[in-house]
Amino acid sequence: MSNVLDSLKDVFSGLTQAKSNTYVGIDIGSSSIKAVQLKKDKGRILLETYGEVALGPYQDKDGTAGQLTTLETGVLAEALRNLIEQANVTAKTAVISVSSATSLIFILKIPYINQRELSGVVQNEARKYIPVPLSEVSLDWWIIPEKEIYGEDESSIVKKKSDIDVLVAAVRNEVVDRYNTVSQSLGMFSQTSYEIETFSAIRGSFKHELAPVMMIDFGASGVRMSVIEHGVVRKFRAINRGSAYLSSSLQKSLEIDFEEAEKIKHEVGLDKENKNEQAYNIINTGVNYIFSEIKNVIFDYEKEYKKPISKIILTGGGSRLQKFKEQLESRYNITTVYADPFGKALSPDFLKEVLENAGPEFAVSLGLALQGLE
Ligand SMILES: Nc1ncnc2c1ncn2[C@@H]1O[C@H](COP(=O)(O)OP(=O)(O)OP(=O)(O)O)[C@@H](O)[C@H]1O
Ligand SMILES: [Mg+2]
Repeated sequence: MSNVLDSLKDVFSGLTQAKSNTYVGIDIGSSSIKAVQLKKDKGRILLETYGEVALGPYQDKDGTAGQLTTLETGVLAEALRNLIEQANVTAKTAVISVSSATSLIFILKIPYINQRELSGVVQNEARKYIPVPLSEVSLDWWIIPEKEIYGEDESSIVKKKSDIDVLVAAVRNEVVDRYNTVSQSLGMFSQTSYEIETFSAIRGSFKHELAPVMMIDFGASGVRMSVIEHGVVRKFRAINRGSAYLSSSLQKSLEIDFEEAEKIKHEVGLDKENKNEQAYNIINTGVNYIFSEIKNVIFDYEKEYKKPISKIILTGGGSRLQKFKEQLESRYNITTVYADPFGKALSPDFLKEVLENAGPEFAVSLGLALQGLE
């Protein structure tokens, strides 16, 4: 009897596009794919499964974890299919991330105008930032609420009416087309949607912070820094040198293979006490560049908004570098924490510690799955 009902329900949901209660978030990173499946049941969010597959071995025979990859569509689909099988992903609806390397996030300052004119002005202005014809991208934008949000100073409300800040996000259509091809070739999803990874990472790692928080996504290919206040991105900067760069530096300087370099990076990190002084110096030099970019973003934000950043949240596997969190904390005197995305879902107790450790890497994929359930 229940089978009949279930299949009826399926037919029905197909017709009405009823909202699914199970979503898989798929984060296609440059070094690995991460997936998280969440289910909503009686208002609670349950972690059903999660998993990760390193892409290095799909790039070449002796490829390793942590390696940067650019894969053909067919190979990417194969990697994703293997991950889905291993992790036993069953969701029929997926949300896939679009990397910040293939998208653009910027903030336009435009004169105060009415809503009707806004679209034209944003498109015109966006042209200056986007290096390809606008017909090749999908544009989305949001007006950033005015700065007086804390509402203590009335004179600033009047003053700020003179211009508005608009957050603009642009995604290249070819990226979405490629992922659509991958998703269709798997033949398992009835619905696939997309989101730029920074927004997923915010959803996956924020609790209810209102005061300005900096989020740092330290990935394999790059580092993305954003300052978020009241849930809105107010500053964004990306650099295309990430954790894999540290490994390649070690690889070249110490004349070792990439796999060995990865191992040393994990072991030594920014730990001054480590006996391998040479490795420490190489890593330290690489990370110094990242520190200086982080400092610039903090400085720019605090100067413009005249408010201190209250906290730093770390996402991305690269942020697990030994002593990175501690160094950030002491350099800038800002409380720094690892994202705990799995804390947003119910999961078995015995997994708690594993999930906490894996958290930073899964902030994007969990945020994607959450977006589906919203
Ligand atoms: N404990 C650790 N110490 C140092 N580095 C680590 C550690 N754990 C993971 N990493 C590094 O984190 C990187 C992987 O992180 P992540 O999965 O967030 O990247 P990605 O999403 O594939 O990359 P991107 O977001 O840039 O496309 C690798 O470079 C890996 O070496
Ligand atoms: Mg990533």
